[in-house]
Parts: sequence; structure tokens; C-alpha cells
Amino acid sequence: MSLYLIGFMGCGKSSIGKEVAKKLGLSFHDIDEIVEQESRKTIEQIFEKWGEYRFRLMETEILTNWRDEAVYATGGGIVVSAVNREIIKDPSNVVVWIDPTWDVLYKRIQQSTRPLLIDRSEADLKKLWEAREPLYKECANHIIKDAKPEFIIDQILKIYKKK
Ligand code: S3P
Repeated sequence: MSLYLIGFMGCGKSSIGKEVAKKLGLSFHDIDEIVEQESRKTIEQIFEKWGEYRFRLMETEILTNWRDEAVYATGGGIVVSAVNREIIKDPSNVVVWIDPTWDVLYKRIQQSTRPLLIDRSEADLKKLWEAREPLYKECANHIIKDAKPEFIIDQILKIYKKK
């Protein structure tokens, strides 16, 4: 059983995932970081050199090969790939969608240099977020709406311990 945290860029998957893993005594894996380590390239370089499609394939490879009982922070676009969604949706997994409001997300990602944010207006990004919402919903077996990190962590611990 793996615990996947999904949600749009800036929702707090990595920081929350680290805390949750520590509290559960599990390993924490950040899929973006694994992609960077395995390819010896930054996410920016991967997008620039090979494009988004190839990046999604790299995410698929990691989802396929890393199946230990651990907490996984996923990249915000991992759900764009139907193959990725199928892997994540496996009923043995706990999949938590962290879903803050758009205003909270936008405030957090505004200054970021993530490749998908470059040259995109707030309206474009909001559209991207809206387009992904049904995909997060499809994968998640738990949704945590706008809440403070401590509350989110607490909720995830409860969800995981119940499973
Ligand atoms: C992406 C989100 C990023 C990273 C890449 C693409 C996306 O992860 O995987 O820049 O498509 O939303 P975070 O959600 O951790 O920022």
C-alpha cells in the first residue's frame, strides 16, 4: 500500500508528505526529485530538451518501479497521463487530493520558475487547474479542501491509520 499525495502545483504535497512520512515512520519519495536524480537533469531542462510528453513517461516509469510502502509526493500534472491515473488509482493505495482554493494556490506559485508557469497568465493557469480537477477527482479516494497544513497532516494520518 502506498500513500500518494496529488494536487495542483503549490498545494503543499512535498512539505506535507515529508511530515506525514516522518509521523508514520515511512520513507518519503518526491517523484519530481526522483526524475531529476535518475535523468541527472532538472525538471526545467527535461521540459526544454525533451518536452512534457517525455516527462510524463518518466513519471510513469517511476510509478511503475517504485511500489514500496511509502509516502509519495507526485508532480501536479501526473494525472494528465491516463496510464499514470490507472497506476495511482489501484484500490490498495491511499490517494489524497490536497485541494486549496485557487487564490491560495496562485499566491504560492506566482513567483515560481516551474516550466508550465512560464509565459502563462493567471487566467491560463486557472484554466489548467480547472481542466485537471476532474482528473484529481478520478484518482483520489480522499479529498482535503482548503485547510491549514497541520489539519491536513492530521487528516492524512487518520485516513492512513484507518486503512
Ligand atoms: C508540473 C508540476 C510540477 C512538476 C513539473 C510539472 C505540472 O510538480 O512535476 O513542473 O504539470 O503541474 P509540483 O506540483 O510539485 O510543482
